This record gives sequence, C-alpha cells and structure tokens, in this order.
Amino acid sequence: MRHFLSLRDYTPAEIQQLVKRAHSLKQGADTDVLRGKTLGMIFLNPSLRTRVSFEQAIKKYGGSAIALSPGKDTWSMETEDGTVMNSDKVEHIKDAARVLSRYCDVLGLRSFAALKDVTEDLAEKPLRQFARYATVPVVSLESATEHPCQAVADMLTITEHCADLQKKQFVLSWAPHVKALPFAVPASALIAASYLGMQVTVTHPEGYELPSSVLEGIPNLTVTADQKSALKKADVVYAKSWSPPALYNDPAKLQASFEKNRGWMFDNSALSAEARFMHCLPVRRNVEVCDAVLDGKNSLIIDQAENRLWAQAAILEFILK
Ligand code: CP
Repeated sequence: MRHFLSLRDYTPAEIQQLVKRAHSLKQGADTDVLRGKTLGMIFLNPSLRTRVSFEQAIKKYGGSAIALSPGKDTWSMETEDGTVMNSDKVEHIKDAARVLSRYCDVLGLRSFAALKDVTEDLAEKPLRQFARYATVPVVSLESATEHPCQAVADMLTITEHCADLQKKQFVLSWAPHVKALPFAVPASALIAASYLGMQVTVTHPEGYELPSSVLEGIPNLTVTADQKSALKKADVVYAKSWSPPALYNDPAKLQASFEKNRGWMFDNSALSAEARFMHCLPVRRNVEVCDAVLDGKNSLIIDQAENRLWAQAAILEFILK
C-alpha cells in the first residue's frame, strides 16, 4: 500500500507517468479502477477546488465520496498524540483514521500549517498520524509542507502549454498577502518544475527565505531578490505568497511587511508578453495579482483548476491499483 503524501516519496519518472495518465484521462481514456470505490475526505481547513475535484473525479469513474468538516458536520478533531482530551476536541484523529478505513477504500486529509511554530509545522504530525493509523491508502489534500495533488495538476497544465521544458525557465515569485500564509504550495510548485526538468528560479523580498528543506534537492536553483530580472526571463511564472516564520505571531510586523512589499503585486508590467501565468487559487485579486494578469490571455489559472479533476482521477487510480 502506498500513500500519496509528498512528491518526494516518488521519483520524477513516477510523477511524470501520473501526469501522462491524467492527460490521457482528460483526452477521454476510461478506467474501471475507481468503480464501486469510496473516498473519505477530512477537511480540517476549507476547500473549493480540492474537495469538488476529488468528489467529481471519483464519481465520474463510478465511485463515491464523502467529505467531512470536523467541528461543522462531524466531531471536532484532536490531532495531538497522547493529549488529555478535556477541552473542546471530541474525536482523536487516529480513531477517525481507523474507523474511516473500515468504511472507505481510500482516505484524504487536509491539514494546513498552524503557522505558530515552524518546527511543529515541518513535523506534519496530523498527516503523519492519520496515515500511520489508516489501513487504506491516504492522499494529502494539502498539508503544512506540501500540496502534491496541486503539483500534479500544475505539471499537467505546464505540459499542455509549453514544449521543450528542459530549456524553459520556471519562476516562483512571492506575492504580497494580508495574512500569514504557509509554504506548502510554493514547495510543491518547485518540486513540480524540477521534476519536469525546467530551470527553476525563486524570487522574493529579503526576509522571505524559504526553509532549506523546501529548497533541498531542487537542481540548478537560482534564488534572487531581483523580481524584475527574474520575471524578464520567465517562460512560466507561478505567483504565491508565503510568510517568514518570524512573523507568524506578530500581526503588526506582518502588516508592516505587507505595506513595504506591496510593489511585488503582479501587474502586466511585471511579465514578458509570452510568459504564462499560474496561481493555484484562491487568489486575493489586486493584492497578490491584478485583474489584468489573472484574466489576461496568458493566464492558466482556470486550466490549472480544471486539471485538478484529471490529476485526482490519475492519483486515485494509481494508489487504488
Ligand atoms: N488550490 C486549492 O487547493 O484550492 P482549494 O483550497 O479551494 O482546495
């Protein structure tokens, strides 16, 4: 049994195979692997794309899905191991994993970074516990450190719009945001681009360095604070905000940093005429990226969102086989 928790658990060739399969499903290929199968998903955080695309992907091929939001439509969930459960949390995640494994063929968990202590976030305790106690395969629906399903959809989107990827420049650019945000999507975007063999650059303001574990193993990586020069050479630009751990618990400093770096917002002057623009959504329009870029002819954001559906189908087929 293989879980799908991190791209780093898979070789580039395996992930490329998944992307190929997602493409053939999009072209009309069929699969009977999902028929009669049930996907159980727990969302500790909200979702539009991940939730609906997984539900639709399994239903399309003859399976069914149940999505639970603890504290809203099911018991509030404790994720700390060994804790004395005498506060507001009712059900332990390890019990939920074992019970749902008796009802479902595959499980998913969304568990964002708490953004209080980066060491805690990097440990991925909720996801690791859930996977440890589940007796069926588990898919990450985005965790503290990665969004692997988003990455497969992004890879499909890039391959649909660009050829000769080894010669192409992928630029991940920090974007301003009013709230503290994690680095799961930036981390997955970097792995995705490197698995496609692209040249990878990260550009961000000083103080917004990504943790070394995120940059580890990305070959020929360039990191620069010169956004303008980085974007000038980009074939594919991925905009995403993330926050320095030092600002997680300091709203005043976070706000000051936002004001200082507002100029990093994407407008048409930032990009070359040919560069394709990507963002995983949801996006704060005219804060992270201006309307003209999001709605412009080179924007791939809606294709990316659609491709979540085909990527999820390929991922479910792969781990259920
Ligand atoms: N991109 C993404 O994961 O979207 P949701 O948070 O809406 O699922």
